[in-house]
Amino acid sequence: MTIRIEVFKGAETAEYIRTLSEMRVKTFSEFPYLYVGNVEDDLVYTQVYSTSSQGMLVVAFKDETIVGIRSGVPATQTKFLNEERRQQLEKQGINSRDYYFCGELIVDPAFRQRGIAGQLMTKFIEEVNAMGFPGMIAISSNRARNHPLRPQNYSEKVHYLSKHGFEKNPLVFTAQYPTQQPDGSVKVEDNQLACWVRKKG
Ligand SMILES: CC(C)(COP(=O)(O)OP(=O)(O)OC[C@H]1O[C@@H](n2cnc3c(N)ncnc32)[C@H](O)[C@@H]1OP(=O)(O)O)[C@@H](O)C(=O)NCCC(=O)NCCS
Repeated sequence: MTIRIEVFKGAETAEYIRTLSEMRVKTFSEFPYLYVGNVEDDLVYTQVYSTSSQGMLVVAFKDETIVGIRSGVPATQTKFLNEERRQQLEKQGINSRDYYFCGELIVDPAFRQRGIAGQLMTKFIEEVNAMGFPGMIAISSNRARNHPLRPQNYSEKVHYLSKHGFEKNPLVFTAQYPTQQPDGSVKVEDNQLACWVRKKG
């Protein structure tokens, strides 16, 4: 199967932003994210990739169909890195101006386990290095092992971020969004996110 990987920066990403939001709303409704979103509201967040001149989408196409997306933006431009977290990183010798933030990585379920995320990551890292950012920051969902909505067959894989040179950092991020509750209701609450850092080299 031939997959084509293309890179879009800043305003060039605009064409793909709605697809990214559609993929986010669908994919992140599942465990561990439990995000109950809608595309129109989600677009407020994903616009950042178009409005930042160094925003980036790395897109995997099968013919003309999008089957995977990796997004990112300079770390100083993501809402996840507020002043408090910036200072906490600074204390660890991590200057956020030197870092690029990894947004979402999503592969269409029908195309998973074929190395597409790996190809997207490799291209993404190449581009980030070419833009002159020595390091990268990423986040991942942190759900309790005994979370009632964890599927029984949910397997903990070797994290794709570990495979690409990221190390888990003690810093914990939060993201506030409408979250599926075990009793079926939806509540806007803070969700914990683990922080990962990939240093130069
Ligand atoms: C994570 C994801 C992008 C992987 O896509 P993929 O194209 O199947 O990945 P590849 O075939 O290149 O590599 C497979 C590797 O990805 C990693 N991986 C798969 N699912 C993962 C998950 N839920 N969390 C972390 N890493 C995962 C594993 O290391 C896996 O290798 P293994 O099966 O040998 O353990 C895909 O499962 C996905 O879209 N998941 C939902 C969205 C998501 O959780 N994205 C990550 C956070 S934004």
